[in-house]
Amino acid sequence: MSGVEQGVWVAPGRVNIIGEHTDYNDGYALPIALPHVVRCAATAESDARVMVSSRQHPGEVITEPIAGLADATVTGWARYPLGVVHEYVRRGYAIAGVRLELDGAVPVGAGLSSSAAVECAVAVALRDLFELPVTDAELIDIGRAAENSYVGAATGTLDQSASVLCTAGHALFLDFGRGEHDQVPFDLAAAGLTLLVADTNTPHQHAGGGYAQRRKECEQAAAALGVRSLREITDIAAVERIAADAPRRRARHIVSENARVLEVVRMLHDGRDPREIGPILTAGHASLRDDFEISTPQLDAAVAAALAAGAHGARMVGGGFGGSIIALVDTDRLDATVESIENRFHTEGFAQPRTFVAVPSAGARRES
Ligand code: GLA
Repeated sequence: MSGVEQGVWVAPGRVNIIGEHTDYNDGYALPIALPHVVRCAATAESDARVMVSSRQHPGEVITEPIAGLADATVTGWARYPLGVVHEYVRRGYAIAGVRLELDGAVPVGAGLSSSAAVECAVAVALRDLFELPVTDAELIDIGRAAENSYVGAATGTLDQSASVLCTAGHALFLDFGRGEHDQVPFDLAAAGLTLLVADTNTPHQHAGGGYAQRRKECEQAAAALGVRSLREITDIAAVERIAADAPRRRARHIVSENARVLEVVRMLHDGRDPREIGPILTAGHASLRDDFEISTPQLDAAVAAALAAGAHGARMVGGGFGGSIIALVDTDRLDATVESIENRFHTEGFAQPRTFVAVPSAGARRES
C-alpha cells in the first residue's frame, strides 16, 4: 500500500436548527455541526482483520476477520465502526486490515448524532488511509447504510450529511430530494444571540420502536396521497384527504416542517435578524409534539421553561422520544435561561439536564 499508513480523523455531532424527520421524506433540513467530535486514530494493517477499541469502553478490544463481518454478532458501540468497514468491503473497496481507536466526546443518546459521528469518523479515516475513490456523497451513504443494515436503525441521511458537509460559521441547507446542499451564513454571536442546547438526560435509541413506526406512517401517508414522497405535497390542506388518523398527522408535520425550513433559510439568506426565526422553531416543536407525537414531558418542560425565561424560540431536536432541546436566547439571558430549565426540572422531579452552547463548527476532517 502506498501513501499514509496512519493518522487521526475527527467527525462532529450535529444539532438541527429546523427540519426534523424530513430526511427520509425527501424534504429539507438545516443542521449545524457541533464542536463535539468523535476522534478515530486509524492504522493500516495487513492481517485481514479489523480491531476496534474505544476510550469510553476501556478493556473491550474487539477483533473480527474482515471476511466475516457480515456474520459478526457483536452488539453495542463496536457495531457502528464494524458496520462502516463492512459497508466498504461490501461495495468492493479493498481494506487489507485496520486498527481503529475511538474517542467520543458527543453525548450519547442525546439526539446529537453520536452514532453518525462515529460512522463518519471511521468512514473518512478509511477513505484517506486506503486512498479510496469515494465522494462525500458516497461517504454519507456508507454511514447511512451501516446504520440501516448493520445496526438496524431505519434512519435517513440527515446526521451523516451534517457530520461530513457542515462548515464553521454556517448552517447547512440540505435538500434530500435533489441531493443538494448549500452553506447558509449563521453568525448568532454578531446578533448578540446564543444557541443553548439542553440535553434532558433521557436517552433514546432508534433501532425499532417509534422511529421506524413514524417512518412507516409517512410512507402510508404518501401512498394515500398518490405521491412518491411527502416532499411533493406543498399545500398543507391536501393532507386532510388522508383518512387514517396517524398518517394524516405525520404528513401534517412533514409538510409544515418543510415549509418552516424554507422560510428560515429565506430569512437567513435575506440577512434578517435571527431572532425572527425563533417563533418558527417553536412552531416546529408544537408540530413534533402534537402531530408527529415524539416529544416527552422532559422535552416539553425544557422548551416551556426556556420560553418563559425569554428565549426567542425553542424546540426539541433529533429523532425524538428523549434527547435534547435547543433554545435561541439573547446572550445576556443565557444564565437565566439555564436556571429556568434547571428549576423547572427540579420542581418536576426530573433528572438534571446537561446544558451547553452550540457554535456552528466544521465537518469531518483529518486532524493529524
Ligand atoms: C435521527 C435520524 C435522522 C433524522 C432525525 C430526525 O437523528 O438518524 O436520520 O431522521 O432523527 O430528523
